[in-house]
Amino acid sequence: MRVLGLETSCDETGVALYDSERGLLSDALFSQIDLHRVYGGVVPELASRDHVKRMLPLIREVLDAAGSRPDEVDAIAYTAGPGLVGALLVGAACAQALALAWGVPALGVHHMEGHLLAPMLEETPPQFPFVALLVSGGHTQLVQVDGIGRYTVLGESLDDAAGEAFDKTAKLLGLSYPGGPEIARLAERGVPGRFVFPRPMTDRPGLEFSFSGLKTFTLTTWQRCQAAGDDSEQTRCDIALAFQTAVVETLAIKCKRALKQAGLKSLVIAGGVSANRALRENLEQMLGELGGHVFYARPRFCTDNGAMIAYAGCQRLLAGQQEGPAIAVKARWPMEQLAAL
Ligand code: KG4
Ligand code: ZN
Repeated sequence: MRVLGLETSCDETGVALYDSERGLLSDALFSQIDLHRVYGGVVPELASRDHVKRMLPLIREVLDAAGSRPDEVDAIAYTAGPGLVGALLVGAACAQALALAWGVPALGVHHMEGHLLAPMLEETPPQFPFVALLVSGGHTQLVQVDGIGRYTVLGESLDDAAGEAFDKTAKLLGLSYPGGPEIARLAERGVPGRFVFPRPMTDRPGLEFSFSGLKTFTLTTWQRCQAAGDDSEQTRCDIALAFQTAVVETLAIKCKRALKQAGLKSLVIAGGVSANRALRENLEQMLGELGGHVFYARPRFCTDNGAMIAYAGCQRLLAGQQEGPAIAVKARWPMEQLAAL
């Protein structure tokens, strides 16, 4: 089965063609980062308008790159939520219109399920069951995964998502959007141990997260340095490293707890923050000590992309899942509501 995947939940237009026999045939992405950067974050209306402009040319590009004709596409998968409603509607409308024109089915996919399954596109895919740490701009969740659609949320963030914490902290330090890669870049040059930030909610049992306090801690540290006449680049790097280390270690502590609780030794990390090198290295070391493995996607499939939607949609379509021609999207959509395959 050959599935065209469309992703438009936020500020990236992603398109890909996945074949159940041959794997990923081609993929393309248009990132709107430059469009939103001047505003310091995503402007939903601008995001929707840009998806309208990019979608059809990207679909053509992906089909051409795969040497595939529209009549060789068996189905279209699109992100139906969670995300920005206007942006999601562009992908949903495009998918349903093409499905009608080409006489093939369309299927709405859960964005976080897409992220969760993205490591399946790599050479050594994880085997079920595993624990997944989903860390994106909108979500921070630990999920026990027993199969596709068999998800038990073990814990999540009570306030900011990990990616959101990176983005907001970066803004406080005068860095540009999106903040995750910027903080990671500065942290490379940071001096370890000059600042030590708290590891929120690690001194009590449980698998919940809270990252909003870290942002305030960063702000007061930076303001104190500035008031003392130290607003050097090195100090910004040192603060970026202290923040990143605090987030990474907090995530790692909770991952270890979740694996223990679930009695598992396989960990999948997915979503934009899973591209973070310090997080990968920390978890790799931890899983090595536990005699387990950590799985993640290549960096461009950690952030939003069409390949993960084509893959997730293909699995559900192969299992016989269907939907009608209605154009319906969801801003919020708990993963536990998904049908098990
Ligand atoms: O999964 P994603 O592309 O979009 C959502 O579904 O939200 O995640 C985007 C988030 C942003 O908050 C971005 O700052 C963060 O992922 N991110 C990173 C890195 N690359 C992207 N955070 C930390 N380190 C990175 N290298
Ligand atoms: Zn995402």
